Amino acid sequence: MPEKIVTNDDLSKIMDTSDEWIVERTGIKERRWFDPDTDTNSNMATKASKMALEQAGMEAKDIDFIVVATISPDYFFPGTGVLLQRELGLIDIPALDIRNACSGFIYALSIADQYIKTGMYKNVLVAGSEIQSSALDLSDAGRAVSVIFADGAGAMVLQASDQDKKGILSTHIHSDGNYAEELYVKDPGSSRKVRLSEEIIHDPSFKAHMNGREVFKHAVVRFPEVINEALEANNLSVEDIDLLIPHQANLRISEFVRRSLKMPEEKVFNNIMKYGNTTGASIPIAFKQAWNEGKIKDGDLVCLAAFGSGFTWASTLIRM
Ligand SMILES: CC(C)(COP(=O)(O)OP(=O)(O)OC[C@H]1O[C@@H](n2cnc3c(N)ncnc32)[C@H](O)[C@@H]1OP(=O)(O)O)[C@@H](O)C(=O)NCCC(=O)NCCS
Repeated sequence: MPEKIVTNDDLSKIMDTSDEWIVERTGIKERRWFDPDTDTNSNMATKASKMALEQAGMEAKDIDFIVVATISPDYFFPGTGVLLQRELGLIDIPALDIRNACSGFIYALSIADQYIKTGMYKNVLVAGSEIQSSALDLSDAGRAVSVIFADGAGAMVLQASDQDKKGILSTHIHSDGNYAEELYVKDPGSSRKVRLSEEIIHDPSFKAHMNGREVFKHAVVRFPEVINEALEANNLSVEDIDLLIPHQANLRISEFVRRSLKMPEEKVFNNIMKYGNTTGASIPIAFKQAWNEGKIKDGDLVCLAAFGSGFTWASTLIRM
């Protein structure tokens, strides 16, 4: 996580908002914002990847494929994958970027899982890294969006295993482009004569735009739907889940989903209160914190689920 902590009170000094409004609507108390002098999307991905490698007892040279979920890469192109590869000194291995926003990390896991299951790769590094604070409209007009999104990175190492019924049991991924403009950053897009101009820079189209109500309405349907899809595919039921780690979209959404699945509070992990919504990075960040707190044990069934821009939604079940 970047070191800079931004509290709701800090935000209320730069826009017309309040701790009370933000906590009631989103659950967020504080979030991290990157420091442009020290943090980049790729160096955050690198730090997280090194932590994951260390925890896995592996070295960078053991990795044979990199998949990065990000919608906020350092460059318009190439993506963060190759920069992470360079930072880790892994010249020659493939590096892939996934642009599926809040569902990106589960999309990335699904890709890693397929490559491992076909035998093509053995050790796959999957990272999620996001810098959203630089795309936020910090004026009053953008306050409904800018109080939610934040920065951070997380990573996992996936490894081929011959243990039956362990590890990733399944992944399910979906999208519906009819809602592409309900949560998006329009500019600088490629389909115009010039990609960047004085007008575009001063246009809100350069900032993150969200139709919050539409996002909420779909999220509370798609989350339970895709979790149930995963359970049915594995002949399991909600009661079998030991821990659900939803993408940290909004605490109200998580709560809604928990109640509709009739899950007890202790089985749903949330840390949005401290870190805000870090889009493609939120799941590995939450997973790591849950792990550190001893909430993920050997043999547990962990469900990861996400919903976000696209719209896209996804789930995976992991037997630890
Ligand atoms: C964004 C969200 C919190 C807004 O809540 P809402 O109840 O729909 O609020 P509205 O946009 O209707 O705004 C209600 C009022 O609060 C105001 N408001 C908006 N943002 C505000 C802020 N940060 N602080 C104070 N007031 C704010 C609005 O201007 C509006 O005022 P008005 O009634 O005088 O016009 C809510 O729609 C939501 O949670 N959506 C899902 C977002 C999400 O999870 N995104 C991540 C997806 S991965």
